Amino acid sequence: MAKKTPEATRPPRERAFLVGVEIYTDPGILSMDDSLTELALLADTAGLEVVGMVSQKIDRPNPKTFIGSGKVLEVKALAEETQAQVILFDNELSPTHQRELEEAFGDHVRVLDRTALILDIFAQHANTHEGFLQVELAQYEYRLPRLTRAWTHLARQTGGGGGRTGSSGGVGLRGPGETQLEVDRRDINRRISKLKADLEKVRQHRQQHRAQRRRSRIPIIALVGYTNAGKSTLLNRLARSDVYVADQLFATLDPTTRRVILPGGHTVLFSDTVGFIQKLPTNLIAAFRATLEEIADADLLLHVVDITHPNALQQWQAVQQTLEEIHASHIPAITVLNKLDRFPDPTLAREIAAGYPDALAVSALTGEGIREMITAVEEMLYEKFTPITVQLPFEEGRLLSLFHEMGHVEQQIHTRSGVILQGQLPGRLLAQFQSFLRPEKTIDGITDIPSGEEE
Ligand code: GTP
Repeated sequence: MAKKTPEATRPPRERAFLVGVEIYTDPGILSMDDSLTELALLADTAGLEVVGMVSQKIDRPNPKTFIGSGKVLEVKALAEETQAQVILFDNELSPTHQRELEEAFGDHVRVLDRTALILDIFAQHANTHEGFLQVELAQYEYRLPRLTRAWTHLARQTGGGGGRTGSSGGVGLRGPGETQLEVDRRDINRRISKLKADLEKVRQHRQQHRAQRRRSRIPIIALVGYTNAGKSTLLNRLARSDVYVADQLFATLDPTTRRVILPGGHTVLFSDTVGFIQKLPTNLIAAFRATLEEIADADLLLHVVDITHPNALQQWQAVQQTLEEIHASHIPAITVLNKLDRFPDPTLAREIAAGYPDALAVSALTGEGIREMITAVEEMLYEKFTPITVQLPFEEGRLLSLFHEMGHVEQQIHTRSGVILQGQLPGRLLAQFQSFLRPEKTIDGITDIPSGEEE
């Protein structure tokens, strides 16, 4: 059993005052209040104590201080009153905004933003070599233009040294140690290049793995969803595995894959993935490209949603948006509305499910609805055939045989640069043909590829 740290010996939590800003011209997916509530949860996960919050609606950010000068004074006074050590903005601040705000608020408080906080939480939860590399890269890229007093202050708390992020027990932002933060820009740039090169190696290795998995033809089902939706719990339920489950944001950072034999006898791989969140920092998405590519390569997505969350639909939308950004929105998906056990009224649950495409409701905790979910997965992968037209170049002989072997070919036309096939494929194979899709529903009348379309 895990030992609990006695209250007395736990380091004091840093006191954080939150600032939410809604920009009229650029409203987010969540309302300002909901976004601030989420920020408070993130702050708690990162080990900060929230001592107060304030919000403002503006037309556009003040070029110097992001919020207006009157608001700066108000926040300063409130932060002093609540003895805050950190002022945390819900929006991503530019390096200039951050510097100006630090100057305005004075030496005794640090100014942080949502991005820094998410990076910190990711640093705490990384637990594989790749995870460390990805977080470290994102942190350096974020920090490079912001090398100021705040960052050296932060680094001091984690103790100097090593390249590995995520020191234990510290409060505030974990990250590369003080010595590394004190090195000049050139060294940081050099480090960034090295991290990118290391990640590229990991990426190539992953690609080889993926190619092997493709050859073995075991379908991959990626569990995606907003942070805390219950993906790890669902994977545990499916595989009776022991994936780390925690009521925390971003408990899972590194993909975990489990082999599962479905009732029909088919073997599939279920893969847990990093939780999504609105305003996911762009440099984090870039750094996590390799991990996210795993999702884009899946045959089926289970999009897990916490049905009990007041912003369930907005969270679903935020995940859909990220799926589009990582080019994964074409993959067949089932929406899994989770935590049904906490929902007293099954009729209401059904009504809610009707508001989502291809949705069903389950409880990963009690197992309710899981059998139906597995049936839906089997149907989607093996029984449901989707009409598709593809143009396969000659070197894709493997896909040509696969289409003939597993799908229903309705028409086939040989052209100078390959074969056009029209027919139907089971869901588990659609992703493999994605790069060769043609827009036509039917290829009647096509005798060859119109000129200009050939490679
Ligand atoms: P990230 O790692 O942040 O992406 O989270 P996750 O989506 O993997 O969520 P996780 O499985 O860690 O679950 C988050 C919390 O929700 C935990 O406290 C779980 O016990 C709880 N939970 C998950 N599924 C259910 C469910 O079906 N019912 C109830 N009541 N709680 C659940």
